[in-house]
Amino acid sequence: MSRFYITTPIYYVNAKPHLGHAYTTIVADSVARFHRISGEEAFFLTGTDEHGDKIMQAAEAAGKTPKEFVDDISGTFQNLWPKLNIQNSDFIRTTQPRHIKTVQKVLQQVYDNGDIYQSEYEGLYCYGCEQFLTEKDLVDGKCPDHDKEPEVIREKNYFFRMSKYQDWLKKHIEDNPDFIRPERYRNEVLSMLDMGVLDDLCISRPKTRLSWGIELPFDTDYVTYVWFDALLNYITALDWPEGEKFDQFWPSANHLVAKDILKPHAIFWPTMLKAAGFEPYQHLNVHGYWLVKDTKMSKSIGNVVDPLSMVGTYGQDAFRYFLLREMRFGRDASFSEDALVGRLNADLANDLGNLFSRVLSMTHKYFGGEVPTPSRKHESVDLEVLQLAIDSFKNYQQLFGAFEFGRGIESLWELVRGLNKYVDSTQPWALFKNGETERLGDVMYVLLMLMRKIALHIWPVMPTTAETMLEQLGQGADFDPAAVNIKDEVETFGRLEPGLHLAKASNLFPRVDLKKKQEEDAVKAEKQAAKKQKKQDKAAKAAKAEPKDGIIDFADFQNVDMRVGTVVSCQPHPDADRLLLVKVDLGEDEPRQVVAGLAEYFSPDDLVGRQVVVVANLAPRKLRGQVSQGMILAAKTDGGMQLLTVSGATGNGTKVS
Ligand code: ME8
Ligand code: MG
Repeated sequence: MSRFYITTPIYYVNAKPHLGHAYTTIVADSVARFHRISGEEAFFLTGTDEHGDKIMQAAEAAGKTPKEFVDDISGTFQNLWPKLNIQNSDFIRTTQPRHIKTVQKVLQQVYDNGDIYQSEYEGLYCYGCEQFLTEKDLVDGKCPDHDKEPEVIREKNYFFRMSKYQDWLKKHIEDNPDFIRPERYRNEVLSMLDMGVLDDLCISRPKTRLSWGIELPFDTDYVTYVWFDALLNYITALDWPEGEKFDQFWPSANHLVAKDILKPHAIFWPTMLKAAGFEPYQHLNVHGYWLVKDTKMSKSIGNVVDPLSMVGTYGQDAFRYFLLREMRFGRDASFSEDALVGRLNADLANDLGNLFSRVLSMTHKYFGGEVPTPSRKHESVDLEVLQLAIDSFKNYQQLFGAFEFGRGIESLWELVRGLNKYVDSTQPWALFKNGETERLGDVMYVLLMLMRKIALHIWPVMPTTAETMLEQLGQGADFDPAAVNIKDEVETFGRLEPGLHLAKASNLFPRVDLKKKQEEDAVKAEKQAAKKQKKQDKAAKAAKAEPKDGIIDFADFQNVDMRVGTVVSCQPHPDADRLLLVKVDLGEDEPRQVVAGLAEYFSPDDLVGRQVVVVANLAPRKLRGQVSQGMILAAKTDGGMQLLTVSGATGNGTKVS
């Protein structure tokens, strides 16, 4: 049996999954299903990337231990996939013992071969990228991806001799034109390789700086650089070096990534494989970004699309279909609910859903709901539509196999629309009226047998819809992809047994009235706004009212947002002796500046590193020309001042209540 191996990136667990992660994983699922229904065994791997500074920092900000934190977010990824009907064969986490073992084994192997050496290094390090950057990576002195100045770091580290494999890699890419696809990314990689000698890759981090990682087997003062660790997940999951899975699946390895991680996958990974004595993967498949209103999704812009809410509103299959149909693989695409609803109504409700329900109800009307026996006397309209079907299935399979999903689906829809025309031109109702039963049976048979084949072909994209169609076509409830092979379905006529009993009616995709939905949403939003206003009015009224004996409402107390933070720096106010400018890390993107009247009691050095309690939702105000964004709580004592603090280490940003 032929085998196929498909992987997604293992996602960082520093944030919750969004549309981008959903897209890659849905594509991988569809590809795996496509191979499973093409007579192959497919192994589909996804997982989470859990080591490194970024994760460590996110855990700190959430006030959790790294272990608690990664368990939690990895769980949200694992729980999401079934809700998108993803059937992965395995879920890997880089903190699992099996992975740690593989990483250490490969490191030792490459070290023993002489391709890892120690050297001193000084460079510009970006914590966001977890990478040393070169001057030419910077824009206005800042990392363009994180808009932050990198820090100069000098340390002894271990290096992987990547440069040694540069010529080999270049030749491999030249000799294998679709090693990296689509072509634009292949060209991008070739020009990176042409730019000059590759730098060797720094693959260690001193434990003094970062301890959350996999220890180097040959020097326990260091942990492994997160990319050297992460990439190896693809072979850990094949049980290398034990068992037979590695030999069975590695030759067909297909990686799926977006363009953000092209370089690690196209340059680090193949050279790592070569140095460790492995064959390269078969293909690197690179897609573009999902944009929202022409900008990349980002948490700080607040335009992140939540896959669960889309599936909740429009259903798994419409969402999956839209993503695969709309994005031209390799290019960026725009996500909008308007576009999704447009496709749902046009392609799914109108073209496919309508056709299927018409065919079922005509079969009930004309043949008591049973598949008629064909005479196989074909007229030219039949021959045309049968030829269209052959072309369409062939193109679909070829394009889908080459990761051109949008075009593949489009060629399937040429058939769907062709069949709608076929109904219009053969006019089964007229044949029925004129008593031309044999001809009517032939027409209905062509329609029904092609509906079955269409269902099989869309199964990788819309499994639930396909299974419903097959069940309604009398194929039984338990669909088994291993029992069919769409490669055998292209040219074969029939494969749908006469006499099978069909479901009476079908409503695969109810139309969505976007205008109505938007109106309903607007009404909902209005109600919510009114409720909020009422609450605010009440609060304002309460605030104005004289407090009775100094008592305030619970709601008034709740309006004060107090948070724990750590003082990261402190300096005297340039124009006021009694004030200090205190920078407090509240777990936000940047520390806040609070202007505090503490200078009489504390020197700046007394404060740095201390945990304090800050009123975080105080309106910003200027104090002697310096903006203050909050208030540090303190108790004034006889001739002194005591800061409010927490009794044990607490994550920055933790709410006080
Ligand atoms: O890079 N459009 O993890 P990550 C399309 N841990 N796809 C998107 C997207 C968008 N706007 N945003 C994210 C890492 N993705 C590493 C990978 S692999 C050994 C280690 C998808 O959580 C896309 O697949 O940042 C992209 O490559 C991936 O999420 C990056 O995920
Ligand atoms: Mg990323």
